[in-house]
This record gives sequence, structure tokens and C-alpha cells, in this order.
Amino acid sequence: MSTFPTGFLWGASTAPHQIEGGNLNSDFWANEARMPGMERSGDACDSYHRYREDMRLLADHGYNAYRFGIEWARIEPEPGMVSRAELAHYRRMIDTALELGLAPVVTLHHFTNPRWFAEAGGWLAPEAIDRFRSYVDTVVPVLDGVEWVVTMNEPNMLAMMTGLAVKMQQAAEAGAEWQSPTVDEGPRPPLPAPDVEIGRRFVEAHHAVRDLVRERTGAKVGWSVANRAFEARPGCEEKKRELEYIWEDLYLEAARGDDFVGVQSYSAQWVNEDGIEPYPPHPDNTLVGTAFRPDAIGIAARHTAEVTGLPVLVTENGIATADDARRIAYTEGALKALGEAAADGVDVRGYLHWSLLDNYEWGHWGPTFGLVAVDRETFVRTPKPSLAWLGGIAKTNGASLTD
Ligand code: FCB
Repeated sequence: MSTFPTGFLWGASTAPHQIEGGNLNSDFWANEARMPGMERSGDACDSYHRYREDMRLLADHGYNAYRFGIEWARIEPEPGMVSRAELAHYRRMIDTALELGLAPVVTLHHFTNPRWFAEAGGWLAPEAIDRFRSYVDTVVPVLDGVEWVVTMNEPNMLAMMTGLAVKMQQAAEAGAEWQSPTVDEGPRPPLPAPDVEIGRRFVEAHHAVRDLVRERTGAKVGWSVANRAFEARPGCEEKKRELEYIWEDLYLEAARGDDFVGVQSYSAQWVNEDGIEPYPPHPDNTLVGTAFRPDAIGIAARHTAEVTGLPVLVTENGIATADDARRIAYTEGALKALGEAAADGVDVRGYLHWSLLDNYEWGHWGPTFGLVAVDRETFVRTPKPSLAWLGGIAKTNGASLTD
């Protein structure tokens, strides 16, 4: 199988809040402290200090890319107060990636905001877009040599989370427990739909910084959209399109005019006349309650390419499991589905697995997505067999995937 083009990116993805540790000035940190049922991120994986070791794991195992993020709350801990030291920190990370032969794929916003930003009204405040533009303007000078920039991670999930946060706050006051936005478990209430008003705000935010990043860095600029790989039950195509618009297409249509679009998908989900069907309980379900559907990324890549007309980069795909053999089986299936989409004409530029490390899954430590385990006390990294397995596929650019 050799359906992946030369220069294909093979890597893994992370997000600052989930791995760095001590993200004291962020809104998520503040929320962790007050939401019942939410575990704390604490020192996380201490990747803030150990990023070289983390990147080396990828480079040594045959990968050529690493996706990581810049944390706004560190760059601008108070409004207008810019930390030169933190800018230098992220510049060192970019230099380290380049030195190790890893193409840095840099995310400018991955769910978390500075605490002051949230307290000043968050994304619905009239100044929100200007505040974000000013942060991005501060960051672009350190992006030299970066070829891929993701302005915002999963604006659609964030639109859902922002609405959810309000509901959770109300629920907490009534004594209920936190539900991680990326954990969609059967017995829990299903996730609410993303809030369209907030979603439109994110579109504005993305458009406000897209040209700025492009002109001042020469990087390819896009954003990454969560894709639920909806499938319609017979006669439910219209319902599927309606849900697709609210969950995905609003954000995908806004990507037209970008240089690429990030595809992120973990499972597929049926739609019937009443809406999204909950994942039925099944022994193969993942640690976050989703169905084992390695083909989801193929459905997602095709849909994303069709709506946007853009090259796609898989910026996240993976599985929460304690059984690494299942991770390998899942990823093998995913790469085959992606290879088929590419063979059918979808312009796929890379595959970045979620995630490099077992990390802080937005309120929970239980769901392990990593190619590498991390001891939470000593921070010792222990590669799982999947790290070398996927690295082996990377070395052959996919040719070693068996048919
Ligand atoms: C995505 C998020 C990522 C991680 C994975 C499991 O929605 O972008 O940070 O939580 O899900």
C-alpha cells in the first residue's frame, strides 16, 4: 500500500494544558478547582520542562512531525502583559523540533483561555476578537520556520463546551458532577449541540487572524474541526445534513480560503429521525464510551475535503484504551481508511496521532490515548509498542501497511 504522497507528515499531537502542567493563569485551571468530580491537571506530564525528551521519542522512532500548542495564558497572563520568557520558551520548542527533524505543527488556541479573558466575558465579550488578534500578533514573531499553523482547535467542540460550562456551573450548584466534553459515555446525558452564536464568533476569530499569520510567517494556515463521522439510517439523510451543519459544516465552510484543514475524528455515529443515536454498550467500546470505529477518519476526511475543497491534514485520531494492541489495531484500520480516501482523490497531507502521551483528558486522567505512558509522580516516560509500530509505518511512508 503506497497511497501517501512524498513529504507526508507522520507525527503525534498534544495540547499545552493537557501535558505541560501548572497552567495557573488559564480558565480551565480555575474551573478544575471548583467543579465537583473534576480531577486536577496539576503538573500534568511536566512536558513544559520535558518537551525535548518527548520530541526525541518521536524523532528516534521514525516520525517527522510533532503537533503542539502555544498557551495564551502563559504568553499574556494579564491583559496586555506579555511574557518575553514564555515567548522564548515556545521559540525553543520550535527550534528543538526543527533540530530533531520534526515539522512543528503549531496550535495557537486549544480550548483554554487566559483566566482574565474568561472573567472579562470570554468569547462573547465585544472585545474578544481584538484580544485574540492581539495575542496572535504577539506570537507570530516566534513562528519563523513553522510551516503549519492551526489557529484554533475544534471550535465546534469549544462552542459546545462553552455552552456546556454554563450548564455545568448550574448543575454544580445543584450538586451534579463534571462531564468531560470529550467523554461521551452512554449512561451520562448526551452532549448538547454546539452553540451557533458562539460558533459564529469563532469563525470571526479565525478569519481575524488567518491573513495576519499567513503574511507574517509564510506558514500554511488553517483550523482543525472535530468530525463525528455521522452516518444516516435509511431515510434520515436530511436529519444528518441538519446535524452536520450545526456540528461541522458551519466551521468547515468557514475554512474555505484557508491553506488546509485539520481533520479530527475518533468514532462514527448513527443519525436517525430523532437525532444522534447514543453509542450502544459494547465490549469493544473505548474508555470514553465511543464505538470502536477505525473507519471514522476515512468518512471524516472525505466529508471535510468535499465541503472545503482543501487539502486535509489529520491533526488528531486515536483511541482511549488500556490495551495497546487495540490501539495498534485501531490505528491500522484508520490508516487503511485514510489511504483509501487518498487513493480516491482526497488530498491528505499527513497523519498526526492523538496522542503522544497519556495525558490530562479535560477533567479526567482515566482515558489513556498515549503512544507513551507517563508516571504521574516521577514523570518517567515508557513507550508502548504502538510508538514503534506507528513509527515503523512512518519510515515506509505507509507502504508497510498490510492489505
Ligand atoms: C479532542 C481534543 C483533544 C483530546 C481528544 C481526545 O476533542 O481536541 O484535546 O481531548 O479529543
